[in-house]
Amino acid sequence: MSAQTEQLVMAATTARGKAYVPYSGFRVGAAILAGGGVYAGANVEIASYPISVCAERNAIAAMIMGGERRIEEVVVVTAAGEPTTPCGACRQALWEFGSETDPIVTCVTMGGRRISNRLSELLPGAFGPSSFRPQPAG
Ligand code: THU
Repeated sequence: MSAQTEQLVMAATTARGKAYVPYSGFRVGAAILAGGGVYAGANVEIASYPISVCAERNAIAAMIMGGERRIEEVVVVTAAGEPTTPCGACRQALWEFGSETDPIVTCVTMGGRRISNRLSELLPGAFGPSSFRPQPAG
């Protein structure tokens, strides 16, 4: 693994420690490399469960606030037995800012297991920013 990936693993692991998960107890940390910067997020759960936000989408929000819009690499860290890949909604959200770069997504367990895939492998045949052009109303 590259030094850059290791930096993302560290950032995602730190973020995971800040997860707010009173309902599932399942902590997730994510880190995104964009424009040379590292942007991290953790999952935040809400008593009204469906409005909870995954770590990946919170990392995207941090990236946007950092002024970046082009995802170069992604790392997701959990303590599951097998690496946790991003949920379907997060794959779509990552594609919004990763369709041009098709970043490597590395999913890592606290126990040291890792799996890496291109985002396009996780979301084949994706609908994305280049799939349509705004049409005139009506
Ligand atoms: N979760 C993430 O944050 N990212 C994933 O990739 C999978 C699931 C969160 C959502 C919820 O807070 C908890 O994990 C259990 O589903």
